[in-house]
Amino acid sequence: MKTILVTGSNGLLGQKITERILQTKQFNLVATSKGANRYPVKEGYTYAEMDILNPDQVLQVIQKFKPDAIIHTAAMTNVDTSHVQVELAHELNVVAVQTLADIAASENIQLVHLSTDFIFDGAAGPYDEEAEPNPLSHYGKTKLEGELVVKSSDAHWVIIRTILVYGIVSDMSRSNIVLWAKGALESNKPINVVNDQWRMPTLAEDLADGCLLVVEKGAQGVFNISGKDMMSVSELVAEVADYWKLDKSMMNEISSASLNQEAKRPVKTGFILDKAINELGYKPRSFHEGLKILEHQLEQRAL
Ligand SMILES: NC(=O)c1ccc[n+]([C@@H]2O[C@H](COP(=O)([O-])OP(=O)(O)OC[C@H]3O[C@@H](n4cnc5c(N)ncnc54)[C@H](OP(=O)(O)O)[C@@H]3O)[C@@H](O)[C@H]2O)c1
Repeated sequence: MKTILVTGSNGLLGQKITERILQTKQFNLVATSKGANRYPVKEGYTYAEMDILNPDQVLQVIQKFKPDAIIHTAAMTNVDTSHVQVELAHELNVVAVQTLADIAASENIQLVHLSTDFIFDGAAGPYDEEAEPNPLSHYGKTKLEGELVVKSSDAHWVIIRTILVYGIVSDMSRSNIVLWAKGALESNKPINVVNDQWRMPTLAEDLADGCLLVVEKGAQGVFNISGKDMMSVSELVAEVADYWKLDKSMMNEISSASLNQEAKRPVKTGFILDKAINELGYKPRSFHEGLKILEHQLEQRAL
């Protein structure tokens, strides 16, 4: 059985990968993250503290557990924070990737690296894996640089690009669009929602499945892994409102320009998913199905 080491296992994707591996028992898991383990179940896998900014610790942990694959989810993932904490974003999204790529190459480990639709400028979405990147934000630039580090390494590498991930896990360090929209509408607060940005939102479980499929198949190269439905952000929030029967009149549709955000967002991203579907057997769920899964999880948590 292959052993997978996950970085950033406390994050949204990291916890979903942990959950999937514990369900399927298809892999041995070494979950690693900064600080204490926040995944509620502590049995059935190993947890090791690993700060990706500490190369000695990273080498030590990887040499100790000798994984067959590393799924690298840890990153600076917040677009606005990356715009302000420029150096830290570079350290996390580029330098740490170099550390992992070097170790993966020398220890003969498959490196599965997570990237983003924000490497594109949004002028020509949906994009295939070969499309020309042109990031608009510092976050997008660091993630593209991280990709280039991976591509130029001698490791057996995979880059998985994804879009606007949603879902729920324990003790989350940040929210996501679906939980935010649901929470705000439930408390009857008026919310501003942009109607001129288009995305293909991704259920965190689908992304976790995509990551495990590339390890299972020993795949190489770039793969788009996202949800299959393209929608504007205002359409997304309206669907969340409809699903939970919330008051849509609290939604105030605005343009991106009126937000005056310093970190620019691409207008229309979205991915062509044929490669992942045909080569990996990836099965993206519809947004509606994703909401149904999330609803079930929220109900379980409330029990
Ligand atoms: N979420 C999205 O919408 C989205 C879209 C496109 C691409 N992606 C990419 O997908 C990947 C996973 O995203 P996600 O949504 O799972 O992000 P997330 O929930 O923010 O998880 C990232 C995890 O990395 C951990 N981390 C931060 N600094 C670390 C360090 N120095 N050492 C070890 N761990 C560290 C964080 O720890 P703390 O929790 O303790 O802060 C967090 O648990 C990222 O590469 C991201 O760029 C995400």
